[in-house]
Amino acid sequence: MKRITVAIDGYSSSGKSTMARRLAGATGYRYIDSGAMYRAVTLFALDHGMISATGEVDAEALAAALPSIRIDFAPATEAGGQQHTLLNGTDVETEIRRLRVSNAVSPVAAIPAVRRALTEIQQAMGREGGIVMDGRDIGTTVFPHAELKIFVNASAETRARRRFKEMMETGAQVSYEDVLANVVRRDHIDETRAESPLRKADDALELDNSTMTLAEQDAWLMEQFEKRVQA
Ligand code: DC
Repeated sequence: MKRITVAIDGYSSSGKSTMARRLAGATGYRYIDSGAMYRAVTLFALDHGMISATGEVDAEALAAALPSIRIDFAPATEAGGQQHTLLNGTDVETEIRRLRVSNAVSPVAAIPAVRRALTEIQQAMGREGGIVMDGRDIGTTVFPHAELKIFVNASAETRARRRFKEMMETGAQVSYEDVLANVVRRDHIDETRAESPLRKADDALELDNSTMTLAEQDAWLMEQFEKRVQA
């Protein structure tokens, strides 16, 4: 059977990672969270003093350091669980989800050298098809020829509530207002950056999942997937 490429893009906390992970699990495809890669580079920059207290990124130093940054994914340890992001061999999965990284990631993801390097790695990962990748520019830039492209949306409040709940579950000390402010600020930076801004690819299907259950979402996505595989 044909092994297609699935690109799932959308706003932060729109539920696209959950969608992508579940589709990959159901089809046996490889799942790649491209946002985790931008987060890992951001963690590296923070830990190497390349981001000032006011949030300015030393883009030149970071670009020079890119060849020394290796990002891998370790498979989930439990069935249906989350895969772990490794930064130069160290498991940073928890670290990259903290607000410290969330607050710094958008400016890092706006640096052209960072985007170029990560896009190249992502394209190499998808060369054989059989992949579900989620992010902001997967359908527009990384895999413009993907057989199935989805653009996921939900209101900023719905997305902030989801992210807040997730963070509370990991024991983070944050307020809902801070999470909402972060979501709104990131939307703005992601949409207005010069290089590969967040936008729906012309041939992407749009999905607003604000009022959908997980089961409804899974069924809808599987139907779209089957159509593309059989085409
Ligand atoms: O999906 P996420 O919230 O984990 O993504 C983290 C940040 O990375 C987000 O602010 C936008 C950026 N990103 C991007 O620019 N391009 C991608 N393909 C994925 C994420």
